[in-house]
Amino acid sequence: MMTSTTLDARAAKPLLDWYDRHHRDLPWRVSPPMAARGIKADPYHVWLSEVMLQQTTVPAVKPYFTNFLARWPTVRDLADAASEDVMAAWAGLGYYARARNLKKCAEAVARDHDGVFPSTEEGLKSLPGIGDYTAAAVAAIAFNRQAAVMDGNVERVISRLFAIAAPLPTAKPLIKQKVGLLTPQHRPGDFAQAMMDLGATICTPKRPACSLCPFRGSCEALRLHDPEHFPVKATKKEKPVRHGAAFIAVTADGDILLRRRIESGLLGGMTEVPTTNWTARQDGATSADAAPFPAAWEPCGTVIHVFTHFELRLSIYRAAIASLIQTDNGWWEAVTNLDSQALPTVMKKAIAAAIPLAFKHAKD
Ligand code: ADE
Repeated sequence: MMTSTTLDARAAKPLLDWYDRHHRDLPWRVSPPMAARGIKADPYHVWLSEVMLQQTTVPAVKPYFTNFLARWPTVRDLADAASEDVMAAWAGLGYYARARNLKKCAEAVARDHDGVFPSTEEGLKSLPGIGDYTAAAVAAIAFNRQAAVMDGNVERVISRLFAIAAPLPTAKPLIKQKVGLLTPQHRPGDFAQAMMDLGATICTPKRPACSLCPFRGSCEALRLHDPEHFPVKATKKEKPVRHGAAFIAVTADGDILLRRRIESGLLGGMTEVPTTNWTARQDGATSADAAPFPAAWEPCGTVIHVFTHFELRLSIYRAAIASLIQTDNGWWEAVTNLDSQALPTVMKKAIAAAIPLAFKHAKD
């Protein structure tokens, strides 16, 4: 199985298979069954829809798109239209600079390109009102070019797939690089649309339906049991940071050591894996020396969890334990039974970092 660190364009295959079955039927789209009948995307339709869809939702755009095409069936018709008519037809879609540029762009295509849209990102970008996003989207969707298409949906999918730690917009160049890595030579336009559909229907901002996702086997955010954490939000005010370590002891039978937190205070009475105190000191007890008992503790990375009043950075350690060690206040629980335990998210994240398959049915 591919993990997110080894993902490349081969990862597009499960996404494209998913798209073949679950794509949305949209009036500007040549769906896979239409493509199979030899229908090709019309660059004018693709361009018009992509301009309309910037900062506007799919349901809001649909009637406008249909109306524009009925009134101006070709880019030449739009170029010849009266500006006031175009502006009036756009009324209600908002961001009216888009409509002014739309008209200028149609005129440039009609006048300078004989009514034919350029087929490369560069050529498209030379037109009025076409920026990086629209150029990439039209090049990919209308001309099957291997262009890295990035919108809000795609940014969310990629941020989760690779658990990108930097917030937006800082993360954008990295996200673009990852999109480039995943975009296949074959069906790049469908890949772009599939990423958008995935973001709109499965990898949603809240409560993503991870169990239905074609990337569920390779998504790093799901592995960390916290897809909603990504894309990381730029924090307005920095929260204080606390540090600690958590210890996941696993027996050969697949039992792990749990304990109950004291009734009072944060996460009072909930179940936890053994952890140190969470201190404000970076040089606090975050090493394996702070473990509840000696074992061959192996580091498994750091889990970050944001509480209301502080951010916690937990160093995670795992050790295979030969025999059940007696502990005063803990018990050994089958990894297969963790779903029935009162484990708060931070603890699920800590366990998932040490035992990736501990929560097969991760939050969806
Ligand atoms: N949002 C913007 N462009 C889109 C497209 N081509 N398909 C689906 N959603 C989109």
